[in-house]
Amino acid sequence: MTPAGPRKTAAYIGALAGLGLILAACSSGADPANYPEDDIDVIVPFSAGGPTDTVTRMVAEPMSEELGVQLVVQNVDGAGGTVGAGQAATAEPDGYTVLMHHIGMSTAPALYDDLAYDPVADFKPVGLVTEVPMTIVGSPDFEPTTFEEFVSHIQENADTVTMAHAGEGSASNLCGLLLMDALGVEVTAVPYDGTGPAMGELVGGQVDFMCDQTTNTTGQIEAGKVKAYAVTTPERIEALPDLPTTAEGGQPDIEVSVWHGLYVPAETPDEVVTQLTDALQVALADQMVIDQMADLGTAPVAADQATPEAHATLLQEQIESWGDIIGAGQGG
Ligand code: MLT
Repeated sequence: MTPAGPRKTAAYIGALAGLGLILAACSSGADPANYPEDDIDVIVPFSAGGPTDTVTRMVAEPMSEELGVQLVVQNVDGAGGTVGAGQAATAEPDGYTVLMHHIGMSTAPALYDDLAYDPVADFKPVGLVTEVPMTIVGSPDFEPTTFEEFVSHIQENADTVTMAHAGEGSASNLCGLLLMDALGVEVTAVPYDGTGPAMGELVGGQVDFMCDQTTNTTGQIEAGKVKAYAVTTPERIEALPDLPTTAEGGQPDIEVSVWHGLYVPAETPDEVVTQLTDALQVALADQMVIDQMADLGTAPVAADQATPEAHATLLQEQIESWGDIIGAGQGG
């Protein structure tokens, strides 16, 4: 066989490289050129009916329209969201498994020694979605009616008061830790797999109070089913104009809101991530999504935040800052 000339060799190498790319994509099962050609599972690491589930279902519909396939919510709850995130980390990197997670993605490394995944190395960020304020709410039978009364009641009765949350590292857990730290008390914490089920127990009077996202509390507050004490943002929010801020109630350190973002397994091809990011941006510009979020006290992030780059930057920053806060809290 005549030795191949340089050009032929170059052509071979080019073809091999091309083949390599296709093989790599095929080995990950992804076919970016024809993506998506099947329904896409969206893992929500908390129970159905809760705030993260609510936000996911809001964007899933317009994203489904944009991508031409269904985004199907799969609630995989437990351990403050780490069970669902762990399942997503090991899913096939073909674009058919997406994870919706929140601030809990950045707290888990500092809280779980045996975490089954690395939030940075095992995932590719698709884009941020929204940043949800939190509210401090009480069961209808809970004695305090104002935030000031709530603070003194907690400080005087810490050993008998119960607080619901969605597991270690969840947003409701973090807010609860901030609250207890600011008030210098330790109350009995009652974990659930999500604040969806916790809300049922709160309305029923099985637990005394909870710190939870407006996407789960606004409706209950407006219906008078729970007592509302304060919102954890620097300014009051439009959806609940009569609800004072924690700062107005003399507790400025109890300030937190819950950023949410979409993720795919780390080996998912960039072309697939781009398609998901584009669909997310279309969803966040959708007037119905904007109105639904406004009714529940939040809003889509700005378009320049609904990008893999902005998402990756925030995730890294939050892992570092929560690592310091939690480390300091654990006497580190
Ligand atoms: C949920 O969807 O249940 C919440 O996001 C849980 C939490 O983090 O408090």
